[in-house]
Amino acid sequence: MDNTITTCSFFLSTLTLVLSLLVPTSYSLSSSSSSLSLENFIQCLSNHYSPPSHPASHAIYTPKNSSFLSILHMHTYNNRFSSPTAPKPLAIVTSLHESHVQGTIICAKNHGLQIRIRSGGHDTEGLSYVSDVPFIILDMFHHDSVNVDIKNETAWVEAGATLGKVYYYIAKKSNVHAFPAGVCPTVGTGGHFSGGGYGNLLRKFGLTVDNIIDAKIVDVNGNILDRKSMGEDLFWAIRGGGGASFGVILSWKIKLVSVTPKVTVFRVQRSVEKDATNIVYKWQKIASKLDENLFLRTTFDVVNDTQKGKKNVNVTFIGMFLGLTNKLMPLLNESLPELGLKRSDCIEIPWVNSTLYWYNYPNGTKLEVLLDVPKEPLLSNYKTMSDYVKKPISRNGLESIWEFMIKSDRVRMEWNPYGGKMDEISESETPFPHRKGNLFLIEYLTSWGEDGVEARNRYLNISRSFYKFMTPHVSNSPRATFFNYRDLNIGANIPSNTIKLDIARSYGIKYYQGNYERLVSVKSRVDPDNFFRYEQSIPPFH
Ligand SMILES: Cc1cc2nc3c(=O)[nH]c(=O)nc-3n(C[C@H](O)[C@H](O)[C@H](O)COP(=O)(O)OP(=O)(O)OC[C@H]3O[C@@H](n4cnc5c(N)ncnc54)[C@H](O)[C@@H]3O)c2cc1C
Ligand SMILES: *[C@@H]1O[C@H](CO)[C@@H](O)[C@H](O)[C@H]1NC(C)=O
Ligand SMILES: *[C@@H]1O[C@H](CO)[C@@H](O)[C@H](O)[C@H]1NC(C)=O
Ligand SMILES: *[C@@H]1O[C@H](CO)[C@@H](O)[C@H](O)[C@H]1NC(C)=O
Ligand SMILES: *[C@@H]1O[C@H](CO)[C@@H](O)[C@H](O)[C@H]1NC(C)=O
Ligand SMILES: *[C@@H]1O[C@H](CO)[C@@H](O)[C@H](O)[C@H]1NC(C)=O
Ligand SMILES: *[C@@H]1O[C@H](CO)[C@@H](O)[C@H](O)[C@H]1NC(C)=O
Ligand SMILES: *[C@@H]1O[C@H](CO)[C@@H](O)[C@H](O)[C@H]1NC(C)=O
Ligand SMILES: *[C@@H]1O[C@H](CO)[C@@H](O)[C@H](O)[C@H]1NC(C)=O
Repeated sequence: MDNTITTCSFFLSTLTLVLSLLVPTSYSLSSSSSSLSLENFIQCLSNHYSPPSHPASHAIYTPKNSSFLSILHMHTYNNRFSSPTAPKPLAIVTSLHESHVQGTIICAKNHGLQIRIRSGGHDTEGLSYVSDVPFIILDMFHHDSVNVDIKNETAWVEAGATLGKVYYYIAKKSNVHAFPAGVCPTVGTGGHFSGGGYGNLLRKFGLTVDNIIDAKIVDVNGNILDRKSMGEDLFWAIRGGGGASFGVILSWKIKLVSVTPKVTVFRVQRSVEKDATNIVYKWQKIASKLDENLFLRTTFDVVNDTQKGKKNVNVTFIGMFLGLTNKLMPLLNESLPELGLKRSDCIEIPWVNSTLYWYNYPNGTKLEVLLDVPKEPLLSNYKTMSDYVKKPISRNGLESIWEFMIKSDRVRMEWNPYGGKMDEISESETPFPHRKGNLFLIEYLTSWGEDGVEARNRYLNISRSFYKFMTPHVSNSPRATFFNYRDLNIGANIPSNTIKLDIARSYGIKYYQGNYERLVSVKSRVDPDNFFRYEQSIPPFH
């Protein structure tokens, strides 16, 4: 596997299995009152939400169950939040039936417990499985069916289904249909879709949420609602505002999109020591204006130049073109001849194969890997942050960035071009506001293998320093942030305290800009007592 970093393969290639080291010796409930609440919670669920076909006892794990830790860690994708000292839930409900979801909400509410909702567990700040208050995890991974209706070009997808599963079952029915969502197959649709969701079909088809046509959600009163019964404002809010402020998503109805029988992919690497700075400078100007069938991502890695014995930055250009090489070549020849793409760099494959290619799987990997959910996920410690860029960064600016990266040695970046369909959709169509005028989205990644607080602080500091360093180059007033790359540095409430509205506003504006107020008003209608809350949830009016 090479050194490139699609968001996901970056994690895949640098991680080590450390799960076996994480067995804590004992648990203690934070107080006798939460112990009593837990008992009452379990009674409530077992007595009232336990249909004979799906007994609640088959779904409830407490630290007394021997498989508690393996269930907890089955979907924890960031070791920063799964160390022995990380806060643990009082219980995990691995829902097997809609009634378990309803019961978890009602019983937790009645007994004063907070819940964390988890689908794929990829939250970049671990917010689906850690909290500083006594809490229950509602784990949705058993709700993972994908039903494709190819005649109507739609599918119902349950919240616990992974992206890989969605891609696999679409491809089983058709090689000219696809769905625009993220590159990492293990990401869950529960969090990914409700947070916006994007991948390499973004320039042609927009975000995931631009292609959702219905949903089923359980509200704070335990009612199961669909688009019609929840109303358009709640349906609007859960397509980009984050599901966990509003209820528990059970499933989504998605609109499939059409792709060519074969698409063209390529991956070429250039060094900033040679010509990459020029190519990147030009890329900034044209990547969001290219034919919308072409998505050209760039990633930036610090590498060792073995000959010269010093460090350097390599830039990888990863392309996805909805069409064949014959059509792609003249496009790039005209817009970015500096890249020097060769016909032999290009590979023509069915769309579903391109999902494997983008994830860095070797040629010949069976499509069934899209269905794999690692029993024990690969773990590392990592921190992500994000920015939007509206004006090209100057050549000097770029060079100073490479210098900073080399000095820090730990920051990697991924730049994702916008434009195309993204320019055509209004900022208020969904809660996701970063539409026309954005050239590209930056994701920053810092990861480390060392355990312990000292290493963590050191790397988090590097990550923050880089973010600060980037200030003059990126969007401001507000500095925009992508919700799915959740980042607690931009402001966060503490769940055990009263929600501070000014803090909520500060992260809310960065994530949602002008849509924040509308999210607050939807929240006030559907969950006025703020049961569905976490560090960066939408607060109700008060
Ligand atoms: C390796 C990796 C690759 C990624 N690649 C991409 C990418 O290509 N494109 C992109 O847009 N993003 C990407 N992301 C970000 C990803 O989309 C978000 O982290 C997303 O929230 C993950 O969804 P999940 O269900 O896996 O996570 P979870 O951790 O389960 O949930 C994330 C958030 O959603 C809430 N939530 C989860 N399920 C539900 C539900 N059923 N109802 C209500 N709320 C719910 C959780 O409470 C939490 O707040 C990536 C993240 C990682 C770690
Ligand atoms: C966890 O342990 C309890 C008590 O022994 C048991 O009733 C329950 O069925 C166990 N949970 C699961 C999911 O097996
Ligand atoms: C598919 O579309 C047809 C025509 O619009 C409609 O009658 C039918 O109910 C749809 N099927 C499903 C399963 O939604
Ligand atoms: C960096 O890119 C150059 C191509 O310009 C390549 O020759 C070199 O192997 C790359 N280095 C690494 C470590 O990938
Ligand atoms: C670069 O070389 C140094 C020293 O030899 C080594 O510690 C480091 O891991 C290497 N980095 C990469 C990205 O290969
Ligand atoms: C690229 O453009 C140049 C100049 O217009 C032309 O001579 C050349 O044939 C083109 N190459 C391809 C592969 O289209
Ligand atoms: C994959 O490998 C096979 C031979 O093993 C080769 O024929 C094919 O062209 C390769 N496909 C791609 C996309 O590289
Ligand atoms: C697509 O991937 C599958 C699984 O690796 C492989 O069998 C098939 O040959 C690939 N198709 C093409 C055209 O490369
Ligand atoms: C954080 O990084 C900055 C800049 O690199 C440095 O000056 C500062 O001492 C670091 N702080 C800590 C706590 O490591």
